[in-house]
Amino acid sequence: MKQLKILVIDDEKLIRWSLEKHLSAKGYQAIGAESGEEGIKIFEQNHPEIVLVDNKLPGIQGLEVIKKIKSLDEEAVIVFMTAYGSIETAVEAMKSGATEYINKPFAFEEVEVILDNIKNKLKIIKEIQVLKRQQKDIVTFDHIIGESVQFKQIVHLARKIARTKTTTILLLGESGTGKDMFAHAIHNDSTRHDKPFITINCSSLPETLLESELFGHEKGAFTDAKQMKKGLFELAEGGTVFLDEIGEINAATQIKLLGVLENRVVRRIGGTQSIPVDIRIIAATNRDLKRAIDDKSFREDLYYRLKVFQIILPPLRERRDDIPLIANHFITHYNSQFQKNVSHLNEGVRAMFLEYNWPGNIRELRNVIERAVILETMTSLQPDNLPNEMIGKIEQADNSSKENYTQGNIGTSGSIVEFNIPNEGFSLYEIEKQLIIHALKKSDNNQTRTSKMLGISRDTLRYKMKKYKL
Ligand SMILES: Nc1ncnc2c1ncn2[C@@H]1O[C@H](COP(=O)(O)OP(=O)(O)OP(=O)(O)O)[C@@H](O)[C@H]1O
Ligand SMILES: [Mg+2]
Repeated sequence: MKQLKILVIDDEKLIRWSLEKHLSAKGYQAIGAESGEEGIKIFEQNHPEIVLVDNKLPGIQGLEVIKKIKSLDEEAVIVFMTAYGSIETAVEAMKSGATEYINKPFAFEEVEVILDNIKNKLKIIKEIQVLKRQQKDIVTFDHIIGESVQFKQIVHLARKIARTKTTTILLLGESGTGKDMFAHAIHNDSTRHDKPFITINCSSLPETLLESELFGHEKGAFTDAKQMKKGLFELAEGGTVFLDEIGEINAATQIKLLGVLENRVVRRIGGTQSIPVDIRIIAATNRDLKRAIDDKSFREDLYYRLKVFQIILPPLRERRDDIPLIANHFITHYNSQFQKNVSHLNEGVRAMFLEYNWPGNIRELRNVIERAVILETMTSLQPDNLPNEMIGKIEQADNSSKENYTQGNIGTSGSIVEFNIPNEGFSLYEIEKQLIIHALKKSDNNQTRTSKMLGISRDTLRYKMKKYKL
């Protein structure tokens, strides 16, 4: 703990002097004030951790000083000093916010006991604050959202594999699909959760630096190696190493990594000793590793070592039913963060979200919602607050599907419905409506089958049925 500042407010010079002397000797930084007014001023300027205040003071009295200081800082820790026997004043002081009281005259040892107690309390409060902050940052499977059948299966498997101790895991998926989130959740759900979780982004460091970061080096291994340095594999002992963007590592590092995976030992650069490491490796990439193997930029043997257990995270557009769910989750999150009044998606936005392709996946959805919630003045998110590029892309997609319709290419089979397109043309709106009616009839009004037939999600189908008043 850093040196604590203690403010002593007492008009008796001898008491101030004696307390200041003893406190300094015990490693505190003591500051004296001879009146309540002076004490309050010093409190505002110096923010001492602890205040010792006498009751009888010239000018404002001790009890008033306590109240004033408490109004400046609710958490201020104050010890009240009062003449022996005036128990009522002591009770009054505690009611006003004093943490402790001490009867005068006292021996310094008594003050010391009180200060030790306070220090312990402060330490515990600090630890609780740190823990609360850490808990907020900890990602677990409970934070991962998705109700679609396919996604739930993936989470189920990931939970299972998290329980194994050393199985290597390869996370694949486009950017923003949740690879980072899964890596954290797996670590936090494993028996290694109280050991380090170390992430390294393999594309962010120059090749030689990456190698020395991962494996460490002996003193004198190269010109700049003035001292021995442990690598991340060693530092993560007992925990998890997350190698993000694994597709970017160079040939030499690939060979060394293969060695770690095969033998569970590392050798520092310039070293001869094999150091055993007890770690789990999770690797991730959005690159197509099979293609990288074909063009010889990634070793096939390393690929097979990494993909002992492979998790492929689907792009958001392949689990469209989850879009409203995730969108609402982020609305709630940002609504409380920015203290707004937004509670849901407007129907139009919902339909747009369901139709949009989300190339940036959940990260893009999160960013779109964050921006829209900040701008929104209504209780539901309006289309006006979506980024222009996104609306542009939806319109583009809409236009190209219109072209397909007039050419008669409906769906992939192209022959579900036949049209006679009159020369004067007709309304696309009407075609869509008729198609939905047709499909609903064909499936005996079964929405799941109808949405499958039309290649859209049930949410989109419901939205469209509402739109066409079906
Ligand atoms: N299933 C999910 N539920 C809730 N939030 C998610 C989910 N998946 C991802 N996110 C959020 O989306 C954002 C992107 O996720 P993450 O960083 O894990 O993606 P990534 O696959 O590692 O992307 P990149 O390849 O760009 O590193 C994060 O803000 C994360 O909190
Ligand atoms: Mg990532």
